[in-house]
Amino acid sequence: MSSHRQETIRRKAAPDIAARKGKTPIVVLTAYTAPIAEILDEHCDVLLVGDSVGMVVHGLPNTIGVTMEMMILHAQAVVRASRKAMVVVDMPFGSYEGSAETAYVNATRMLKETGAQAVKVEAGETVAETIAYLVKRGVPVMSHVGLRPQAVMMDGAFKAKGKAADERQRILEDARASEAAGAFAIVVEGVAEGLAKDITEAVGVPTIGIGASAGCDGQVLVVDDMLGLFSWTPKFVRRYADLKGEIARAAAAYAEDVRERRFPGPAEIYFAKAG
Ligand code: KIV
Repeated sequence: MSSHRQETIRRKAAPDIAARKGKTPIVVLTAYTAPIAEILDEHCDVLLVGDSVGMVVHGLPNTIGVTMEMMILHAQAVVRASRKAMVVVDMPFGSYEGSAETAYVNATRMLKETGAQAVKVEAGETVAETIAYLVKRGVPVMSHVGLRPQAVMMDGAFKAKGKAADERQRILEDARASEAAGAFAIVVEGVAEGLAKDITEAVGVPTIGIGASAGCDGQVLVVDDMLGLFSWTPKFVRRYADLKGEIARAAAAYAEDVRERRFPGPAEIYFAKAG
């Protein structure tokens, strides 16, 4: 097959990420917008258009209200602005749980309309069949076990998982079932470090930890959390910047300049040509 466009840089894809099991750690951050995706592309193996976008960007209390349309718009922006990183998009609540056929229709729509390379689903035991259905039909799937934010209504709150032995076992089974179904990687969220290590040893595909263990095959954080855009972040977040402070300082300086008529200055206005 010939192509008119010669891509000099090949984007990472599911097999590249799967092959990193037990090798150099996989770097993942969420991204929701073009300018942030463009900056992160150089530094990340995977850009995750997480449904956390509902909380982080749209101010929702949880991810339940996130729609296919929201995910598609944000994923399109991230794909447009990146060239090297693999782009993985979350399937929102209600778009894949009902039946494997519905999941296939929604997942293929997501990939066709965005140009992303894979979808992510939160994988309780029952979702393994759907993962298998999608993978057999050519849809690369990243799975997500442990704390599953889309289960917030069943759980009552976002709670760390795997403290009791039966729950630990169930999460380990979710991870094993995801791998058996063909997931190319597994996000492990909000579990005790020992469980994250057990999962990482038990499965042959990379684990990507968040609030889990440095022993995972990779790490993911919500980008706005690590950039310090919020006053409060969960314990597992390390802040690498204080953008909230920076933005507040910039807004205050701008407001003062406007009020004192120092902005715009001569360099920031247009002048008519003489004569
Ligand atoms: O929605 C999201 O951002 C996620 C990550 C936190 C793993 O699922």
